Amino acid sequence: MQSPWIEKHRPKFLEDVVGNTDIVSRLKVIARHGNVSNLILAGPPGTGKTTTIHCLARHLLGKSMSQAVLELNASDERGIDVVRSKIKSFAQRKVTLPPGTHKLVILDEADAMTPPAQQALRRIMELYSTTTRFALACNMSSKIIEPIQSRCAILRFSKLSPPDVGERVRKVLITEGISFDDEAIDVLADISDGDMRVALNAAQAASVVHSHLTQRNVLEVSDIPHPRAVMTMVEHCQKSELDEALFVLKDLWKQGFCAEDIVKSVFRVVSNHSTLEEVVMLHFLKIVGQTHCRIIRGHDNFVQLAGMIAAMAIKDMEFVPEG
Ligand SMILES: Nc1ncnc2c1ncn2[C@@H]1O[C@H](COP(=O)(O)OP(=O)(O)OP(=O)(O)O)[C@@H](O)[C@H]1O
Ligand SMILES: [Mg+2]
Repeated sequence: MQSPWIEKHRPKFLEDVVGNTDIVSRLKVIARHGNVSNLILAGPPGTGKTTTIHCLARHLLGKSMSQAVLELNASDERGIDVVRSKIKSFAQRKVTLPPGTHKLVILDEADAMTPPAQQALRRIMELYSTTTRFALACNMSSKIIEPIQSRCAILRFSKLSPPDVGERVRKVLITEGISFDDEAIDVLADISDGDMRVALNAAQAASVVHSHLTQRNVLEVSDIPHPRAVMTMVEHCQKSELDEALFVLKDLWKQGFCAEDIVKSVFRVVSNHSTLEEVVMLHFLKIVGQTHCRIIRGHDNFVQLAGMIAAMAIKDMEFVPEG
């Protein structure tokens, strides 16, 4: 069985990490000088937080990594006992390292740690600050208790841009010997919504069945509404052709897409629609945003979508249904 591309092609060095260039350059400087502070890497999934910490550890510690790094992730038990036993005994352990380097504790998905465990961690961070550094990765830094936040430099990752995702996927496909159309890369970058894991998994899934990737076969495996159909629907709304727009919507609904899939696709299409007048785009995005809000509150049904389409098709831009 093929190993997952997300692991096989996980960057080993900071040079291979795409996007978030300010953070990566800052870490490159740290990697050169070895003067690492405690770190929190926070941001959306699949943007390279875990990867970046591993790259940094590799740059800093090289061959000593096996003795000088302790990594705990969400699949490990990370209650207060583990913090007190495992992390403390690692911090106390003597390891000979080059001058200016420290042992490193990596706490992946740190936002899943219980508050008492975080309190215990705070003490340990202080006690062993001369020998041990901590790097925490999480999606939301607000779930990390204040005293830990104030002991760390916080690096905030953003979603990767479509060109960054496209560039990396392109590289991986070339390494794997899979040919592709440029539109296939565009659609992978588009559906990823800034999450490299999504793009690579979709590319791998499509390549299992097809030796040449096209927009169509990527969409088949990634199970999202076809952007062209969504584009047609938006264009009908723009021309106030409600019946035609509803016809496309019903077809998408019949294909089994849920309301959230459809509304997200409309958002992507509207925000990337270069020919929409700015005022119309903003009007549409307002309606899409309010519909999304209602859907995630639990109103995941066709009526909400039809309402969205109707509001977009009405010429009077003042009219936006109540949220
Ligand atoms: N910036 C990036 N550059 C290159 N590859 C990336 C980048 N971000 C993610 N990847 C790819 O996606 C996979 C997942 O990335 P990673 O585990 O670092 O994400 P994460 O930010 O830690 O996500 P999560 O919040 O879900 O833990 C990696 O194995 C790598 O192949
Ligand atoms: Mg991670």
